[in-house]
Amino acid sequence: MNGRVLIVDDDKEMCRLLETAFHKRGYAIAARTTAEEAFELLAAEDFDVVVSDINMKGMNGLELCARVAQNRPDIPVVVITAFGTFDTAVAAIRAGAYDFITKPFEVDVLELTLKRAIQHRVLREEVKRLRRAVDDRERGLEDLTGQSPAMHKVRDLILRVAESDTSVLITGESGTGKEVVARALHHRSRRGGGPFVAINCAAMPEALLESELFGHEKGAFTDAKAKTVGLFVQANGGTLFLDEIGDMPLGLQPKLLRALQERKVRPVGGGTEVAFDARVIAATNRDLETAVDEKRFREDLYYRINVIHVPLPPLRARGNDVLLLAQQFLHQFAGQSGKNVVGLSTAAAEKLLSYHWPGNVRELSNCIERAVALTQFDRLQVEDLPEKVRDYRPSHIIVASDDASDLVSMEEVERRYVLRVLQAVGGNKTMAAHILGFDRKTLYRKLERYGVSGEG
Ligand SMILES: Nc1ncnc2c1ncn2[C@@H]1O[C@H](COP(=O)(O)OP(=O)(O)OP(=O)(O)O)[C@@H](O)[C@H]1O
Ligand SMILES: [Mg+2]
Repeated sequence: MNGRVLIVDDDKEMCRLLETAFHKRGYAIAARTTAEEAFELLAAEDFDVVVSDINMKGMNGLELCARVAQNRPDIPVVVITAFGTFDTAVAAIRAGAYDFITKPFEVDVLELTLKRAIQHRVLREEVKRLRRAVDDRERGLEDLTGQSPAMHKVRDLILRVAESDTSVLITGESGTGKEVVARALHHRSRRGGGPFVAINCAAMPEALLESELFGHEKGAFTDAKAKTVGLFVQANGGTLFLDEIGDMPLGLQPKLLRALQERKVRPVGGGTEVAFDARVIAATNRDLETAVDEKRFREDLYYRINVIHVPLPPLRARGNDVLLLAQQFLHQFAGQSGKNVVGLSTAAAEKLLSYHWPGNVRELSNCIERAVALTQFDRLQVEDLPEKVRDYRPSHIIVASDDASDLVSMEEVERRYVLRVLQAVGGNKTMAAHILGFDRKTLYRKLERYGVSGEG
């Protein structure tokens, strides 16, 4: 079947003629002699294209065009106009017709026009379908800006693990977007409609953290005036986000492990266990493996929360994402302050690209907010950037400088030196590790932290 065609013409003879001709050519065809009847049929059946005469009793072809365009914009209308009435043809197009054809016409010519109209409709539907698919793929990931390979990897990983209920550990330096990723995972999961409950494990004393997480019975401690439900249970049907898990007090770790294994919690001061149904996502900017080695973090708990690991690359390993994010923040802050700032000067962009961003995306956001507030131009200038960004000199190891602003932390000295050695040996990690006196695993771990690929 080549397509479904609806003919509208008050000339019965014409209807019959077209019906026979198009039927022969493999179309499913129906004909009506008034626009009103045509609408009745359109409401009941689906058509790929409508062919309509202009001059009809009752509702004419122009009105029909306008109504189809309004109610069924997916169906193209081809109008038939009398020879020499070009104005009518233009009016029909204005009213929403896809095309027109002038009387008298060859059936072949009409068929060509119909074929084009049908193909147009098919393509439009396809575009719509693809757009929906893309929207769906990106749903929940909108807040995660970045086109670098490193960020594509992160997004792919989120998409792959969002649906399952397994624990996820998100690691990354401060300000890399761990919470943004945790929220994206939640929104993408089947629990997306449920609560997202977050707690910062570093922010409170052990006893308080315990009662926050697990709840407590009335009278469990001096201030426990009423029974409370813990966050595990509050997150039922949703996600519990344990932020800064690396700072979880050692004393609470066995209880947390038990809860994760049994999927039940025992409130402080209470006898009965309560089952919970929440997915657990944890995040940390600490090196948990080292914490395990140093017995500050239980190994069994580490394996329990680290079923799936989402490592977030530092901003300096994301290449041009720095500019993409800068542009996004620039629009946001310019909009908020009502200032007319539209972009970055080339020199400012270069400074942003070569800075090492120890505070990552958060630091970049603060830097742009400040620059937008300060600038007197419509493009951010180098002078609008903080001194440390302006004056940053990459890959210099400054040990003997007299200038206090050149001095950096021991960690930064190490970072620069490690990268310098690696560069000097042409990227050979075995050799670099040998010179530095590290074992290969240590070097890999450091490189991963610096955002330099540990592979190869
Ligand atoms: N990929 C990104 N696209 C857009 N904004 C981002 C992105 N990553 C982070 N941000 C923004 O940067 C800020 C810091 O992000 P977030 O709080 O998620 O970082 P974090 O890793 O949890 O930091 P911390 O370790 O300090 O808690 C937030 O304002 C967040 O919206
Ligand atoms: Mg955070």
